[in-house]
Amino acid sequence: MALTIAILSQKGGTGKTTMTRSLADIFGRLDINTLTVDADPQGNLSDYFDVDPAVEPTLADVLTGRAKAVDAIHDGVVPANLALAEAELMLSGKMGRELTLRNALREAKRRYDAILIDCPPTLGLLTVNALVAADRALLSAEAEYFSMQGVEQALEVVELARDNLNPELEVLGVVLNIANMRTRHARETLETLKKHFPGTFETVIRRSIAYAESAERAVPILDYRPDRGVDYLRLAAEIFERLEMPDRVEQVEELAAEVAPGPAPAPVAQPGSAPQGQAAPAQSQSDPDL
Ligand SMILES: Nc1ncnc2c1ncn2[C@@H]1O[C@H](COP(=O)(O)OP(=O)(O)O)[C@@H](O)[C@H]1O
Ligand SMILES: [Mg+2]
Repeated sequence: MALTIAILSQKGGTGKTTMTRSLADIFGRLDINTLTVDADPQGNLSDYFDVDPAVEPTLADVLTGRAKAVDAIHDGVVPANLALAEAELMLSGKMGRELTLRNALREAKRRYDAILIDCPPTLGLLTVNALVAADRALLSAEAEYFSMQGVEQALEVVELARDNLNPELEVLGVVLNIANMRTRHARETLETLKKHFPGTFETVIRRSIAYAESAERAVPILDYRPDRGVDYLRLAAEIFERLEMPDRVEQVEELAAEVAPGPAPAPVAQPGSAPQGQAAPAQSQSDPDL
């Protein structure tokens, strides 16, 4: 059964789609058979995978019962376009509306090892569907003034989904994303996040123009700028650590040595140990952000 992870945040522009594509790429390199689901009507993930915008069926057809999810996979993604906004409206009047994606993914869950769901920039019905279909919720938060509030709201929705519809759902963690760690503000945000949400990852995804550039070229960050993509390798290692998959952690470390030669990624911090490992590439505050 595929481990299903919903990647969400309370708003847009926090790096959800970039996180989905980067983790999908890393999972693929580890030979984890991974399906991605674009649950955002803006279809950014589908664009990244270069899916023909007119392709059918899409997630909209799956949610309205016109197609099976396994028949709606194109280039490794169940794509989305604006029709998904319409499908969401249609869905809202139906019985079991929150369970639709979960039911639709049943067959795909048997065929894949992992499913990553890229959520829309709202905490509405599509995100709830993703959370009900998921085993884990992964939150992305950008370092800005309302990020704490945004994370709190997203966590409330996760809790609602768990309490009412999906008791198996667990929070995988909160990632500080698109962060310029040279600014005091970003460093303070990280500290506050850690204080309020113990599930905050040690790994921070640093701000870099390389993400936009690599998206434009439809190239994984690890191919385009491995020195930046190493942040996602660190995140993947920390995720596998939390999932209690030590073999996968080791594989990520091997991959890091391969694609970003030099010192291995810092080991995942053990409870009670210093938060930043000594091994490089350490996320030192003096790191250039671009
Ligand atoms: N670590 C990063 N540093 C700088 N820009 C980033 C980073 N991650 C994503 N971006 C860029 O920020 C914008 C929003 O990211 P995206 O992943 O689309 O967010 P969301 O899916 O939450 O709306 C995109 O232009 C993307 O290329
Ligand atoms: Mg997005």
